[in-house]
Amino acid sequence: MRPILVVGATGLLGSEICRLLRASERPVRGLVRPGSPREEFLRRHGVEIVQGDLRDVPSLGRACRGASTVVSTATAIRPRLPGDSIRTVDRLGQRALVDAARRSGVRRFIFTSVSPNLPPTTPFVRYKREIETAVRGSGMAWVIVQPSSFFETSFRPQAGFDVAAGKAAILGSGELPVSWISVRDVARAMAGVATQLAEVSRAYLPLGGPEAASMTEVVQAFERDTGRRFRVFHTPPSLARGMGFLLRHSYPALSSTLGMSAYVANAGDVIERSEVAKVLIPRPVHLRELVHDEVRAVVVERVRRHGQHARVVKAGRGGEIPGAPFRA
Ligand SMILES: NC(=O)c1ccc[n+]([C@@H]2O[C@H](COP(=O)([O-])OP(=O)(O)OC[C@H]3O[C@@H](n4cnc5c(N)ncnc54)[C@H](OP(=O)(O)O)[C@@H]3O)[C@@H](O)[C@H]2O)c1
Repeated sequence: MRPILVVGATGLLGSEICRLLRASERPVRGLVRPGSPREEFLRRHGVEIVQGDLRDVPSLGRACRGASTVVSTATAIRPRLPGDSIRTVDRLGQRALVDAARRSGVRRFIFTSVSPNLPPTTPFVRYKREIETAVRGSGMAWVIVQPSSFFETSFRPQAGFDVAAGKAAILGSGELPVSWISVRDVARAMAGVATQLAEVSRAYLPLGGPEAASMTEVVQAFERDTGRRFRVFHTPPSLARGMGFLLRHSYPALSSTLGMSAYVANAGDVIERSEVAKVLIPRPVHLRELVHDEVRAVVVERVRRHGQHARVVKAGRGGEIPGAPFRA
């Protein structure tokens, strides 16, 4: 059986796709760069490692050789190595990957884009739409996956949401609904598209969670789970938009994140679950479970650092921590 190449294999989403594909005994090849944090995880799951970089065009031809399908989840929205940027990776690198896959005889290309609701007003969304066009015109069979915001990366201190401290920074009123989705469900859908639904071709796959909830409702869910009241700070979306505009040349990734966040704060981001999504994700992870998992992960982290609340950890199911592998 020809391998499925995963580009972005060491990322949050890509590593979970690799794990799921290996669990169903598919041959999987992962593109890995020097010092990638999850290389050992991939090896443990029997992923064939191929060294490469989206900024190194010859390495892409080598990675694609003999592969049946390419699944690309890579992004430089949080750049790790010098030279990573959304222009060099999300635009030029992804473009080079589509060309390399086509030249190498890859039959199917599965690309991770962003929510269909986001307008192309930031460089990041423009690059995603550019690559969608390139994938569609490549001559390969294609699936373009368009997920809403990942729950696991949205409620972190880096995003102004501090569960441990009980503090939340919210852009705007916090009343607009968003179809937060678990990265575990996005991975399930993409692994399913790559294997069970191999006949799905030339298709967009927008993905949202099972229920849309506003930021205010998410804060309330955390308050219920932790039994404490959160301090909430509201910031006008116009401030994020203005900062995004000022940073557009110097920090295009941050500028794009601010622009997308400001848009969602004003307009929300609701994606209805399609029939295909229901087949691929029959039992999606619900908001209250995601909140609960996040709270547990925070408690476990505190125990690891300070040795407190050890009793809470021992009470966990067989020491397994749902959501833990997905911490950024
Ligand atoms: N987070 C969200 O809310 C959200 C919502 C909708 C769509 N998405 C999309 O979902 C996808 C997956 O996101 P994620 O959270 O899994 O991202 P992530 O954890 O930041 O992973 C990014 C991956 O891209 C790889 N990468 C970066 N630069 C590269 C390069 N030059 N060459 C090869 N690989 C490179 C990284 O490799 P290293 O380990 O070597 O750095 C890593 O494997 C992205 O396309 C993102 O746009 C995310």
